Amino acid sequence: MIRIEDVSLSFGGIRAVDGCSFEVAEGSITGLIGPNGAGKSTLFNIVAGLLKPDAGRIVFDGEDITGLPPHTLFHRGLVRTFQIPHEFYRMTVRENLMLVPPEQAGENLFASWFSWGRVKRQDADVLDKVDEVLAFLNLTHVADELAGNLSGGQKKLLDLGRTMMTDARMVLLDEPGAGVNRTLLGAITTAIRRLNEERGYTFCLIEHDMDVIAELCDPVIVMAQGTVLTQGPMSEVRSNPDVREAYLGHAETEDAG
Ligand SMILES: Nc1ncnc2c1ncn2[C@@H]1O[C@H](COP(=O)(O)OP(=O)(O)O)[C@@H](O)[C@H]1O
Ligand SMILES: [Mg+2]
Repeated sequence: MIRIEDVSLSFGGIRAVDGCSFEVAEGSITGLIGPNGAGKSTLFNIVAGLLKPDAGRIVFDGEDITGLPPHTLFHRGLVRTFQIPHEFYRMTVRENLMLVPPEQAGENLFASWFSWGRVKRQDADVLDKVDEVLAFLNLTHVADELAGNLSGGQKKLLDLGRTMMTDARMVLLDEPGAGVNRTLLGAITTAIRRLNEERGYTFCLIEHDMDVIAELCDPVIVMAQGTVLTQGPMSEVRSNPDVREAYLGHAETEDAG
């Protein structure tokens, strides 16, 4: 579904992504792991159109999408989740979901994510869809809470809810488990699995929690120093000595300050 072909990007002298190639198959939940600084987030930002690579291509559904802006990709069903912008904290959960009506077309869709005044808030179809998304994610009981009052995990569920309002097909998730308590982490992994199985979402997921990766992801891509170190099922990746060394090598660097 997505093919990353020999992509590179440097920041100044730092080769953040360095000749990276892999594929995310349609219908998969593909994990992307690797030590801090491996280039995972930078690669995501390239795929999502937020950064342009120095070299290489991104192919989505057989089409070269390299350098296309996020809103164009968004219309094709390729979405990277973002933290809720701070100004949205003063709106309710329900209102946050209304910002992303499914049938709104044109270039304004992506912009409407950031400017809620444009959205026709009384549209019955949108209201029904919001209720359905709230129920799917077990957020109905907090529908009228201000988004800012949600826990970290509930905010991440709301991020997923926003992708559901757009009928995404391919979702990039950067560390959905970070800073989330165990109970809500379970709710997030359940939501990811159900979106995959019941709605046909394809996911590419960066996550530090190896239990989450082992539970959800096949295959797992391991990045180190901007490129792919190895890939395969978690059971294989886990026992690969090169992977252990990449993580340990990094830990030693950190310890050394
Ligand atoms: N905007 C930026 N400007 C300069 N260097 C950056 C920037 N973003 C990332 N880097 C550097 O690129 C490398 C890869 O970072 P990143 O993609 O965040 O890795 P990961 O998500 O795997 O931890 C790191 O060395 C990081 O310091
Ligand atoms: Mg990162």
